[in-house]
Amino acid sequence: MTQARTLEQAPGPRGHWFWGSIQERREQPLELFTRAHAEHGDFVRLRMGPTLSLLSLAGPELVKHVLVDHADRYGKPPALMKDLYPLLGNGLFTSDGDFWKRQRRLMQPSFHKERLAALTTTLVDATQQMLARWGARPSASEPLDVASEMMRITLGIVGRALFSTDVSGTTDRVGQALTLAISETNRRLLSLGLRAPDFLPTARNRAFRHAVSTLDAMVLDVISRRRSGQTQGEDLLATLMAAQDADTGERMSDTQLRDEAMTLFLAGHETTAAGLSWMWHLLAQHPEIEARARAEVDTVLGGRAPTAEDIPRLRYVTWLFEEALRLYPPAWVIGRQPVKEDELAGVHVPASARVILVISVYALHRNPRLWPEPERFDPERFSPERSASRPRLAYIPFGAGQRLCIGNQLALMEATVITALVLQRFRLRSLPGHTVEPEPLVTIRPKGGLPMLLEPRPAPA
Ligand code: HEM
Repeated sequence: MTQARTLEQAPGPRGHWFWGSIQERREQPLELFTRAHAEHGDFVRLRMGPTLSLLSLAGPELVKHVLVDHADRYGKPPALMKDLYPLLGNGLFTSDGDFWKRQRRLMQPSFHKERLAALTTTLVDATQQMLARWGARPSASEPLDVASEMMRITLGIVGRALFSTDVSGTTDRVGQALTLAISETNRRLLSLGLRAPDFLPTARNRAFRHAVSTLDAMVLDVISRRRSGQTQGEDLLATLMAAQDADTGERMSDTQLRDEAMTLFLAGHETTAAGLSWMWHLLAQHPEIEARARAEVDTVLGGRAPTAEDIPRLRYVTWLFEEALRLYPPAWVIGRQPVKEDELAGVHVPASARVILVISVYALHRNPRLWPEPERFDPERFSPERSASRPRLAYIPFGAGQRLCIGNQLALMEATVITALVLQRFRLRSLPGHTVEPEPLVTIRPKGGLPMLLEPRPAPA
């Protein structure tokens, strides 16, 4: 480690003499990361004011080092976790160490492919409800906000998968509380600490607290009715309640179940919805790709709804979503804080609160060394033949290593079912004159929503 360069010697843009790249980080983060990596390589240091350094990584070898081989040297950033804690508590996303390990072991079986297969009918029902609503719209020329439609359906799906309850109705009290709690948590995450302290009774803080207590009461009520045998369910909650630690025989407490339920709600819906929105936008720009996907749906399903066995056969449809997650990875950065000193790309990384490490998934997924013509929407990239020629960690929309997204298979299944059913009935067209721009908040979403025009599908060829 003695020969390693210091942080100050690490490659990266100079930025403003005092503030470094802080302003660009706030105003144009995608451009900042992409340009910094194009100009300085896979490892760059971005100065955030006089004392804070952001180390950004956009190469598969570095991802492997941090997320896989030396994951013990990097923890979740405490500042980020502090903002998530009021809603998520000590759930799978926010917890660390032995506690996290035990929870992950308990929960993993509920997300195995075979278990998830039972959810296919739930996915089909939720999508058919959405399509019925779309079909009953009074005016076809009125734009449809596809981004909020995707949020609504993925929220509905998480609720049904978790508790067998649909909370996505716009008048649903729980749905409203959840939406408020999630958007306030997003706002807090983005405020960089510049906001009224949580203990002040501002209108916002009070509304947030009220929403969280509505959610707590709902979740704890569902759990207590299950425990007393008043209700039953074959959902995720049932499997989480039944999960038992193999060594100690322990099960999750009510508080732990509550924290995990909130975590799944939050982690499971906005990400999937953002990915789907981008996929619809990209498809509308590429009618030939859409036609190929629709032809696959017609061949595999012949007009009926998909079953669990059909999902692996809808290969091209799945690649569409995978390619959308490459171009617009909802989790566009993955943050870590070094907890032990390390050496990365020949640079000494101190274990310090003044250093934040980010894996720039967006820049990695557009790294021209790994992805020829990186800007091009080309779902074929995910064919087994072409995937084989790439390093595995060139593509990490779901993260990597021990903290890999637990819901990745569910998200892919969800996207495949929703896409196939929509393609069977409709075509989503771009709204003339509307420019779609990415807005990188907690996830990358289309700025201001995604208004599109809904048309009946073209007749089969
Ligand atoms: C396209 C959709 C999704 C994307 C892009 C996504 C992305 C991610 C990423 C990047 C991580 C790792 C974060 C890190 O290492 O710091 C993660 C973790 C997680 N995701 Fe997802 N996710 C998606 C869908 C889902 C779904 C559907 C669920 C559950 C219903 C879910 C639940 C979780 C949980 C619980 C974790 C924490 C896992 C742990 O630390 O053990 N996600 N997700």
